[in-house]
Amino acid sequence: MSEAIRFEDKVVIVTGAGGGLGRAHALLFARHGAKVVVNDLGGSAQGEGANASAADRVVEEIRQAGGTAVANHDSVTDGDKVVQQALDSFGRIDVVVNNAGILRDKTFHKMDDADWDLVYRVHVEGAYKVTRAAWPYMREQAYGRVIFTASTSGIYGNFGQSNYGMAKLGLYGLTRTLALEGRKNNILVNAIAPTGGTRMTEGLIPPQVFEQLKPELVSPLVIYLASEQCQDTSGLFEVGGGWMGKVRWERSLGAGFDPKAGFDAEDVAANWQQICNFENAAHPADNMEALKEMMANLQKYAG
Ligand code: NAI
Repeated sequence: MSEAIRFEDKVVIVTGAGGGLGRAHALLFARHGAKVVVNDLGGSAQGEGANASAADRVVEEIRQAGGTAVANHDSVTDGDKVVQQALDSFGRIDVVVNNAGILRDKTFHKMDDADWDLVYRVHVEGAYKVTRAAWPYMREQAYGRVIFTASTSGIYGNFGQSNYGMAKLGLYGLTRTLALEGRKNNILVNAIAPTGGTRMTEGLIPPQVFEQLKPELVSPLVIYLASEQCQDTSGLFEVGGGWMGKVRWERSLGAGFDPKAGFDAEDVAANWQQICNFENAAHPADNMEALKEMMANLQKYAG
């Protein structure tokens, strides 16, 4: 058994923690000793309306169980207010779990600006605003953990979720760069792509499977990623149903052409199999590694 993971002196914001996965994360953080800001606007799964009772109920549950929590009812798009709540209530902010989310599913053919914009605003702008407001405090104290909630719909695509997929993979792009920028101040940034039986997935997942995909099964990974013990950054983890695994980029070794002699679309066609051949594929971890093959090709034909 490894060392106990505790958060006694830590303050954690979980956004969208009034229900579903966020609620499960908040309850588990409190059990691990964290002081928790339970943020939730309390609207519908499509992002309509607002209701303070969602966050209040979870705070009550935490307090009943002997934990410490405070409710916050602001939208994540007012991220500075969410962070201010943490500072006013507990005097610091150590961990941000960006979890709040909505769905506005439509095929792209029927997508309108309002559905595109609202999904972007809640997932991407909301996560940006909360994290941006917490960032200076994390830098100052040389400690921070940020978790973004991506989705397999972003990683792999999902019919009818162009807006949602765009937002969710956007959060992974944000994860990668914040991981680079945060590292020297001990701010570690990771993303999860969860699957859980919540109101968001009700009716989409067969009932027997839905029952088994308990939101609580996602939270231990979130707690670990938020802990001092975790030294990983820039990761993307698929998690659900008691299983979890790490995702990474894979790129074929590709094909190189002589940039000086020139090459045309027919050369691309003739080499298509090689371009798409994943045998001995590379797994670039950063930009420099990603550019290596390209630079090697330039060098090969230089002179
Ligand atoms: P949920 O609908 O149960 O929870 C989302 C919560 O976010 C709700 O309580 C809602 O009131 C809150 N929220 C929405 N807009 C908000 C805003 N502007 N400000 C503050 N709070 C707001 O859904 P679920 O499944 O728990 O989703 C949690 C996160 O996990 C979301 O980001 C979702 O996109 C993501 N996710 C969930 C999957 C699943 O299988 N349940 C799959 C992939 C990703």
